[in-house]
Amino acid sequence: MDSFAFIIHPLDPKADVARKYPRLARVLPVWAIHFLSRFWPPLLLSHVTGIRSAATGREVEGWLLACPFTARRMLQLPPRVVYRKIIQTGRLAERLGAKILGLGAYTSVVGDGGLTVARALDIPVTTGDSYTVALAVRALLEAGSRMSIAPSQATGAVVGASGAIGSACARLLAPQVREMLLVGRRMERLKKVRDEVMNLTDKPVEITSDVADIHRADLIASATSAGKAIIRASHLKPGAVVCDVARPRDVAAQVAQERGDVLVVDGGLAEVPGQVNFGFDYGLPPRLTFGCMAETMALALEGRFEDYTVGKDIDIDRVKEIERVAERHGFRLAGLRSFEHLLTEERISSVRRKAAQVAKSGPA
Ligand SMILES: NC(=O)c1ccc[n+]([C@@H]2O[C@H](COP(=O)([O-])OP(=O)(O)OC[C@H]3O[C@@H](n4cnc5c(N)ncnc54)[C@H](OP(=O)(O)O)[C@@H]3O)[C@@H](O)[C@H]2O)c1
Repeated sequence: MDSFAFIIHPLDPKADVARKYPRLARVLPVWAIHFLSRFWPPLLLSHVTGIRSAATGREVEGWLLACPFTARRMLQLPPRVVYRKIIQTGRLAERLGAKILGLGAYTSVVGDGGLTVARALDIPVTTGDSYTVALAVRALLEAGSRMSIAPSQATGAVVGASGAIGSACARLLAPQVREMLLVGRRMERLKKVRDEVMNLTDKPVEITSDVADIHRADLIASATSAGKAIIRASHLKPGAVVCDVARPRDVAAQVAQERGDVLVVDGGLAEVPGQVNFGFDYGLPPRLTFGCMAETMALALEGRFEDYTVGKDIDIDRVKEIERVAERHGFRLAGLRSFEHLLTEERISSVRRKAAQVAKSGPA
């Protein structure tokens, strides 16, 4: 049977370590988890079964592996130290017989986005970012449509537009909206992304380093590696829709409590075809996974054992291709979720009503 492996790692030190070591997570303070994560070896977490293609009926199996660095440690340590442990984890995938390896969360963010890891390993590698981008933009447009936002009349924004996922989201979204705002820190890199975006659309494209400028945007995709909340309630206009792709999240949890008039959706989630059993609770409801893992599974179902999405320049043709491949095998955009809760029709109607009310009379 064809197979894949996928690497995950703790994002929320206490909650995620508790999934594997409940007792240890109870006694260790967070600083100790960050510190010790450097010395923990790669782990096999589970055997993933039951993924079946809707197109061919073929099944693939997989393994979830942990590269036990917390997100903060990955950002603090020199990339070569992080690469070393990701490569060690990749060697475990090779020993298990995996035919392709997916890099989850910060294992694809650090350094060169999988290039060094792919060069060091004998099996092909993907960051899974192409399908993450496809799903994020789809979720954003779907949530926008539920809020009666016509993309052609909307101001689109991407926060983290100088990054791998952010710049690809910008290129995919720009041709569909009235104008675009690109938000990032490195202005030089942002200018380059603006030029790429302007090659794809004749609509206005602005750049800014101030996240507060998103207050005029209707449709916002956010994909930074800030590792903490950078979008606050005061940044958003009534009726705005945000698709938060970042893990840890870019949007403050406070937005959900304070702003009943904006819709924040979790980005990049897919429904897996077949009766998938992950064998490990990594925090999502049954049958759902992140776009990056779904890309790895879809490539295994397609028998495309090649380095697919590696490096920081995501090719939009690959984004469109993997979307077609994944759809053919039965992957679907998951029902819209917000801060891990399914968004009901009732909740969306309430946000729509409140947005209309606030737009008419100002905040209560
Ligand atoms: N949901 C999923 O399935 C999924 C899959 C893969 C990745 N992700 C998440 O997507 C995010 C982006 O990944 P990536 O590979 O695109 O990373 P990346 O290439 O490193 O890009 C990250 C971007 O974030 C910006 N940034 C970092 N800190 C910031 C801050 N404090 N304020 C504003 N901008 C900041 C960076 O700007 P500078 O370059 O100027 O520093 C960069 O443009 C990560 O959170 C990752 O965990 C999600």
